Amino acid sequence: MAINVAILGFGTVGSGVAETLDINKDVICKRIGQEINVKYILDIRDFPESRFASLVTHDADEVFKSDIKIAVETIGGARIAYEYTKRALSSGISVVTSNKELVSTHGPELLEIAAANNCCYLFEAAVGGGIPIIRPLYKCLAANKITKIAGIVNGTTNYILSRMKDEGIDFDTALKQAQANGFAEANPSADIDGIDAQRKISILSTIANDGGYIAPDSISAEGISAITTEDMAFAASVGCDIKLIALYEASDKPIVYVAPALVDKSNLLYNVNGVFNAIMVDGNSLGQAMFYGQGAGTLPTASAVCGDVLEAAMGIPSEARAWSKESVEITPYDDIRADIVVRADVPAKVIGVADSYECEILSDEAVLVKGIRHKDIAALVSASEAISWMHYLK
Ligand code: HSE
Repeated sequence: MAINVAILGFGTVGSGVAETLDINKDVICKRIGQEINVKYILDIRDFPESRFASLVTHDADEVFKSDIKIAVETIGGARIAYEYTKRALSSGISVVTSNKELVSTHGPELLEIAAANNCCYLFEAAVGGGIPIIRPLYKCLAANKITKIAGIVNGTTNYILSRMKDEGIDFDTALKQAQANGFAEANPSADIDGIDAQRKISILSTIANDGGYIAPDSISAEGISAITTEDMAFAASVGCDIKLIALYEASDKPIVYVAPALVDKSNLLYNVNGVFNAIMVDGNSLGQAMFYGQGAGTLPTASAVCGDVLEAAMGIPSEARAWSKESVEITPYDDIRADIVVRADVPAKVIGVADSYECEILSDEAVLVKGIRHKDIAALVSASEAISWMHYLK
């Protein structure tokens, strides 16, 4: 007997899900022993040109009162998507999603509703697009203490930074190209201001923190809109490239933030370019592993969503995924110690002022200062008459 599915929201990802479930129908059926049938596509729009046009409905009641077992929520945002997700889960319909905003802001409640109704709320596609990362953290790495996660989790900003570096173009031109390629969020501020990365590291950190929920709005996030072509040239002069890094480190009060960083050539993240994402995970048994692949785009993201559809179809319950209701306390950003590169006309002045920290001269205008508290950086920059500073990742 076929398992009926509804796709809620037929945009970039939803259309990819319909496509993937269709073109891979045979293998999917062989693998799970059942057919997955897309019965409805719920959207306020019509899609007369689509070969799936006959499945489109505008009537949510028709969908939720039907015999669907799985709802694919690819609407995005945290309003209608939230209502529909609660409605589905409360009726015992499993929900799979790529919606990082909804998962990161309402994950605790939605996972609880799923568990109470013996169905699944799955979100592999919410982080890293097509890259498997959520399930590896929950399952393959379940015997580890996850000590650190450092990742490039936003394809749009990585694409913009790569274009700025390779083509020498400015930020605005590169952003327009990212939008034309369909990578950017509807409101590109979510990408360029680091909010999308903040939501994604909220999800990864919460999982690494054993379900101790780390709310996105508790995480400091800085974006890339202030990065100039001059900054890119400076990065190259010290053997680095600028990437937007999302970071988690285990601690009594976990360390979590999003910021642009100078990534040294010796770090594997240095070679992650364009829309690709990569997530480095450190575990106390594992050592280090890197998860790399396409972090955005129709079919890569649909690939992850459909993997979840298959898991939901096999009826694996999600109790093990409970998240705490309250957000746990994380280390205040000001108290976090970081390695930074200070750019200054007179590096000796920086070393003179930063004499209580380990320092290393990287070039005739760059000093690496190790382990400085964020709250002490402004004073260092001002006292040494430095030009700028940025996080550093080796
Ligand atoms: N806007 C997101 C990105 C899409 O660029 O990574 C995938 O989550």
